[in-house]
Amino acid sequence: MIVLGIESSCDETAAALVTDQREVLADLVLSQLKDHAPFGGVVPEIAARRHIDHLDSLIARALKEAGIGFGQLDAVAATAGPGLIGAVMVGLMTGKAIASVCRVPLIAVNHLEGHALSARLIASIEFPFLLLLVSGGHCQLLIVDGVGAYRRLGTTIDDAAGEALDKAAKLIGLGYPGGPAIERTAKTGDPRRFALPRPLHGRPGCDFSFAGLKTAVLHLVESLPNPLSPQDQADVAAAFQATVADVLIDRTTNAIRTFKTAAAQGSTLVVAGGVAANTLLRERLKALAEANGLTLLAPPLRLCTDNAAMIAWAGVERLRLGLTDGLDASPRARWPLDPLAEPAPGTGRVGRLGRKA
Ligand code: KG4
Ligand code: ZN
Repeated sequence: MIVLGIESSCDETAAALVTDQREVLADLVLSQLKDHAPFGGVVPEIAARRHIDHLDSLIARALKEAGIGFGQLDAVAATAGPGLIGAVMVGLMTGKAIASVCRVPLIAVNHLEGHALSARLIASIEFPFLLLLVSGGHCQLLIVDGVGAYRRLGTTIDDAAGEALDKAAKLIGLGYPGGPAIERTAKTGDPRRFALPRPLHGRPGCDFSFAGLKTAVLHLVESLPNPLSPQDQADVAAAFQATVADVLIDRTTNAIRTFKTAAAQGSTLVVAGGVAANTLLRERLKALAEANGLTLLAPPLRLCTDNAAMIAWAGVERLRLGLTDGLDASPRARWPLDPLAEPAPGTGRVGRLGRKA
């Protein structure tokens, strides 16, 4: 079984071909970093237009690399949300066109489910497992009971962890995206020189908050001689990285406790999303998992950041269960994995369009 995966929910245009035997026949990601860098963040309209420019040729290249034609596809899986609506539309419409012409099923994939199931593309881990999903747009702890079956234990009440890293990097005077820049700069820094607040640290529950931390960095940067010296940049970056890791570890510790009672047979902690590329976080999560009798599974870096292999794989998992979608599947800016989860405290009313994620 060969599934074509298409990802276009944010600023990565991606196409991949994956089989139900976990073979990745092609896995192409075209980053739009250069297009958005001058603005210090992703510009939705530019993202959608770049997807239009590149998606067709990227899919053609993926097929060529895999040495197959459209006729050999068993299904097309395209991200249908959550994400930037214009960007999502480009990938989903392309997927629909290919599925329609090739007369194969379409699978409208939730981008978060792509991240959630990515660990099963590299290892045969069983459900249920505990998932820490940390990316630029999302920061959640979930029990994954099966394909399409998620119990959210906690989410962010303001910024996502990756978003916080990106904003802090901007304040420190580092480039975009912030996560990798902070990790690189922190290598020569002293994480103990500055003390930063750790929002919600030590409190019960599994929700996250990063807005206060970001404000603390703003005040810290303003208190130093500007522009920051390379050593000041490194010390602030190291403090920020260590603090984000502390917060994520504290919240995950609480989630493990819940996981052990709510899903007793589970034995795996999975970390996914772009921030899972962070080495310090991986090391600390590994130690935490081991201390609690769990195994940490962190997908390889190329599977952590946005890619289409995880979307194709989610397609494989759904196709096996007969979970396909009609050509009337809608793109969605908002699409929570666990629609029954209570909104995080302090997030106010659910918006007109529903919960974000
Ligand atoms: O999953 P992803 O590629 O896109 C979203 O769905 O958001 O995650 C991107 C995020 C960005 O905020 C980026 O700064 C962060 O992941 N990131 C990292 C690292 N690499 C990427 N954060 C910390 N350390 C890294 N090495
Ligand atoms: Zn993502």
